[in-house]
Amino acid sequence: MMRTHYCGQLNETLADQEVTLCGWVHRRRDHGGVIFLDIRDREGLAQVVFDPDREETFALADRVRSEYVVKVRGKVRPRPAGAVNPNMASGAIEVLGYELEVLNQAETPPFPLDEYSDVGEETRLRFRFIDLRRPEMAAKLKLRSRITSSIRRYLDDNGFLDVETPILTRATPEGARDYLVPSRTHPGSFFALPQSPQLFKQLLMVAGFDRYYQIAKCFRDEDLRADRQPEFTQIDIETSFLEEQDIMGLTEGMIRGLFKEVLDVDLADFPHMTFEEAMRRYGSDKPDLRNPLELVDVADQLTEVDFKVFSGPASDPKGRVAALRVPGGASLARKQIDDYTRYVGIYGAKGLAYIKVNERAKGVEGLQSPIVKFIPEDNLNVILDRVGAVDGDIVFFGADKAKIVSEALGALRIKLGHDMDLLTCEWAPLWVVDFPMFEENDDGSLSALHHPFTAPKCSPDELKANPQGALSRAYDMVLNGTELGGGSIRIHRKDMQQAVFDILGISAEEQQEKFGFLLDALKYGAPPHGGLAFGLDRLVMLMIGASSIREVIAFPKTQSAADVMTQAPGAVDAKALRELNIRLREQPKVE
Ligand code: AMO
Ligand code: AMP
Repeated sequence: MMRTHYCGQLNETLADQEVTLCGWVHRRRDHGGVIFLDIRDREGLAQVVFDPDREETFALADRVRSEYVVKVRGKVRPRPAGAVNPNMASGAIEVLGYELEVLNQAETPPFPLDEYSDVGEETRLRFRFIDLRRPEMAAKLKLRSRITSSIRRYLDDNGFLDVETPILTRATPEGARDYLVPSRTHPGSFFALPQSPQLFKQLLMVAGFDRYYQIAKCFRDEDLRADRQPEFTQIDIETSFLEEQDIMGLTEGMIRGLFKEVLDVDLADFPHMTFEEAMRRYGSDKPDLRNPLELVDVADQLTEVDFKVFSGPASDPKGRVAALRVPGGASLARKQIDDYTRYVGIYGAKGLAYIKVNERAKGVEGLQSPIVKFIPEDNLNVILDRVGAVDGDIVFFGADKAKIVSEALGALRIKLGHDMDLLTCEWAPLWVVDFPMFEENDDGSLSALHHPFTAPKCSPDELKANPQGALSRAYDMVLNGTELGGGSIRIHRKDMQQAVFDILGISAEEQQEKFGFLLDALKYGAPPHGGLAFGLDRLVMLMIGASSIREVIAFPKTQSAADVMTQAPGAVDAKALRELNIRLREQPKVE
């Protein structure tokens, strides 16, 4: 071993001891005849002092530059009073340098690390190996490692077996596009990279493994956002002979233990909320309960009003008219309201009606609004009472198809919560339960809301009779408005699985072709089973307080799903394509 200690681990208890450090030159300063090198390794920084007494070493210290890799032998000593740096883990001591060896030189880095200022994500990703040297980035990856290690320990202690599942496989439908890999040995055929290990973990239950977990890479070709990557990691869990309450309890215990261990945060018991209630009160199936604003339905007061925008959706069974009261919002300027109107437009809302409550005691006179003229005073009062409006509030209204109103006001609620600083606590976890089995597509066909292997709460016959009304045995864990994980009790009987495939419009031949192995497995003694998967990247992002999952992934992809460092995806040569029996439609550009 070349080093005796990490730089960041040096402290007063080592005073007068000799140590050997290995690391990078973070900063070099020349102070009237003495040279200071701040040496950095993954645990932090240490200040090493070279004085001219040791001539050769001093001369070498004078020649090293930022990011040189060095080995230093020296003696730890307390810093003189006044020179103590409380911002540095090793700030109470310094090392008097005896020997210095340059292990490798470095060119001037593309961005400085000692006085880092944001250079843009593209540059950071292109030189990620340098970006990750920054203590801030190293801290994130170290925390990620502590998180996975805590999770592994919890699952190991609870009898879970870590089993790997294939990456070259068949499509697993989780609602995204597949990444495909051409097969050389089967010309014209393709593997799909797994969108999740869903079917394999179910097969492991059929195989009798009872409790499985895997920290699993998943691949989904979908539009990227701050909390989505084409390649991401799940904490994937499956169990046999447990009910939803058991699985939720077990995994809630895992997350609570993790928060305690890593952040010293005590999360309270997670409330359970039905999907219906979440949509009704928060316009979202992943409500952020730190935010006190709530949607309130008011359609019943508006069916007869002389304002089509409201009366139409109020009378339509698929419509919704909802109000959102914002305390203190009467002070919003016209321009801010216009901005919010544009914002809800992103979600399809055609407008954003509002009532400013200046002085309720004055009746209609005390209200300021483009719509009060359309609403009879009695109805107006019922609405204002129902939302609890008091002087100084603004009440926003959405009227449209239910989906649009929920999404638009749900998003507005989140935005207002941040803009107006309304959040009431730091952590607000919950379980969302009782999801519908299916959602209707624009063409009237049905899609599985979770995935097609999720068990319904009813029999196959009841399901076929009323698929739209059926609830599933699925559950999502939500934290601060982010879906951390989701899972369900699975279908373990063949007839039920076929019923679901039938409802989804998958023909018998297609069922056999795509899922024959699953249907087979369900014939040969499949136990009742269920599980869930957490998004590890999202979990780490939330625990660290990062704004994007790219910040907690060592080598993430850009927004356009590329790796700017390795330049992947890249062209392949003609021979490789020929072997794969693939001809490109257009010749790729020659670089
Ligand atoms: P689901 O599709 O809900 O369920 O995924 C589980 C969790 O994975 C995370 N996640 C993502 N994280 C980053 N980038 C992405 N593109 C991405 N997509 C999903 C989310 C999500 O909650 N097989 C089921 C689980 C099960 O039923 O057991 C599944 O994959 O945090
Ligand atoms: P208009 O009569 O179109 O000028 O609209 C009057 C008010 O209703 C304006 O404040 C609009 O922003 C608002 N508005 C229009 N359409 C909707 C809608 N679908 N939902 C909520 N408010 C709307």
